[in-house]
Amino acid sequence: MLYITKSVTFSASHRLYNPEFSDEENERIFDKCNNFYGHGHNYTLEVTVAGEPNPKTGYIIDLKILKKIIQDEILSKVDHKHLNHDVEFLKGIIPTVENLAIAFWNRLENNFQDGKLHCIRLYETENSYVEYFGKKRD
Ligand code: NI
Repeated sequence: MLYITKSVTFSASHRLYNPEFSDEENERIFDKCNNFYGHGHNYTLEVTVAGEPNPKTGYIIDLKILKKIIQDEILSKVDHKHLNHDVEFLKGIIPTVENLAIAFWNRLENNFQDGKLHCIRLYETENSYVEYFGKKRD
């Protein structure tokens, strides 16, 4: 089995806020990300597909096709948007990097004819990221 990864970047704003918490709790728990009008992050998204190279092309998946799937399903919806307000598939979730990774996985998972979605790695800063391998490994 081989693993091939496409890396893309996007910028978006968010606010981390749970209405079940008091204002003080929200501020303590979510800190800068609780800013009332939101604030921005430059995200890096890495999408890894697993498979064997097709004997005729040598590809697990054509990277142009992988890029188009990521563009159509994720980037066109989230880039330069407010994740709490502008993105239909994120409605009702707290847009932490963890919850975003799960939501992105769910959007991408069924789009692959060649290879199989293996991992989503999502960086919220250069120094912190989450990895998600889908429900199967929970
Ligand atoms: Ni934040």
